[in-house]
Amino acid sequence: MNKILFHLKTFGCQMNVYDSSRIVELLSGCGMEATEDECNADIVILNTCYIREKASAKIFSELGRIKKLYLNAKKNVPVFAIIGCVAKAEGDNIFKRAPYVSIVLSSQKYHLLPELLKKALEEKNTILNEQEDGEKKKKTKLSHLINTELSGLEKFDCLPTVKTSDSVAFVQVQEGCDKFCTYCVVPNTRGREVSRNEQSILDEVENLQNLGAVEINLLGQNVDCYDSLDKDGNKSNLAKLIKKIAKFENVKRIRYTTSYPSEFFDEMIELHKTEPKLMPLVYLPIQSGSNEVLHKMNRRYTREQYLDLIKKLKSANPDIQISSDFIVGFPNETEEDFEQTLDIVKQVKFIQCYAFKYSPRPNTVAAKMDGQIDLKIKSDRLKRLQTELRKHQDAFNKSCVGKVMNVLFTDVSKTDSEYILGKNEYLQPVIVKAGAELIGTIKNVKIESASYANLKGEIV
Ligand code: 5AD
Ligand code: SF4
Repeated sequence: MNKILFHLKTFGCQMNVYDSSRIVELLSGCGMEATEDECNADIVILNTCYIREKASAKIFSELGRIKKLYLNAKKNVPVFAIIGCVAKAEGDNIFKRAPYVSIVLSSQKYHLLPELLKKALEEKNTILNEQEDGEKKKKTKLSHLINTELSGLEKFDCLPTVKTSDSVAFVQVQEGCDKFCTYCVVPNTRGREVSRNEQSILDEVENLQNLGAVEINLLGQNVDCYDSLDKDGNKSNLAKLIKKIAKFENVKRIRYTTSYPSEFFDEMIELHKTEPKLMPLVYLPIQSGSNEVLHKMNRRYTREQYLDLIKKLKSANPDIQISSDFIVGFPNETEEDFEQTLDIVKQVKFIQCYAFKYSPRPNTVAAKMDGQIDLKIKSDRLKRLQTELRKHQDAFNKSCVGKVMNVLFTDVSKTDSEYILGKNEYLQPVIVKAGAELIGTIKNVKIESASYANLKGEIV
């Protein structure tokens, strides 16, 4: 019998990418096979993002587009499953807008996929058989299977052990958010903050290093709030966890994301001084440089506190660089507020950033605020911010020329197989002329040239 093929498409953040990798392992373990071909699958799963309007609107157009591909090719429409943040936020509504969808699951319930997919596939076969039999009245109606509960981290008890790993591996340590920034849907779509048991994380890391992982990325919506117990029942935190992970010999690099500025604690700052495996790039979303706007966003720090934290980090380790997220055009943001954001960019000289136009989201406080900003002003501010951000990223890239940097190679170049690609300490893409046998290894590279997109160099 042919294997059941599933096509999984992922939208949104690193957490969704991680969830998707676990889903691929989960379904592969149940005798199904992943396919890149979106038009030749028995099952199509969309792992969705709700953070901005554009991202969530895309899901319904994607559904329609993929369904049409099958109809145009005169193939049976696959079983559709919508999982992740849109599933949680839209729930039943998805079935109203797209009745051909069979399964809707929140990101904390995707371990139920095998069971629900089995049911949906069986039902689909019954419907197809009935149609073949030429029965005038269809007997079986497509069921709508839904579970959008948020149940903490029980999914980890149900997932199989990871069986393959790239040299860069991700491990979820914490999920959810209690911060309630007034613009953000995450506390509603991912639920309250919960931390994974320390030993289960260490077991996963050990397994990943045995499978070839050399870089471990610890993931959490508020990763600095990681709060659990170790195997002896003592309190653990992110710094203690990282120290234990650093003891694994094959793990050469450790990163963590995402940090919340006022949760960043001294033990972590100290660790950036003492732990060489901890990469010197800190992803610290500031969102705005204006105290007024930060207050309205319910961000629990001021620009002064943010700058002070960066000073402390850089005095602990002068090699540290900062990346960040920004939102422009938050309700009531004035030109002066926006200039405060530009000013903080000039001061911190962030090396990589994401900047977004504020997008009003359902059931958030900010969406109901007076003083919503005109789209034209948002677009203009975004452009000006991106120009300023780019200047600093460019300058940092150029400052790397002549330096010897540490690169973990991960891929052969798609355009020229004589070249391989990797990332340095600061996640900048680096290209060198070398053979594929170096994939998965870390080498010192002398940087010879820099563009906005990447660095080129030679192994020394
Ligand atoms: N509009 C625009 N950007 C948003 N983000 C979160 N919610 C919104 C919103 N409603 C951005 C923040 C966050 C990143 C993941 O997405 O900058 O750090
Ligand atoms: Fe959203 Fe704020 Fe929580 Fe980040 S800290 S996930 S922006 S509510």
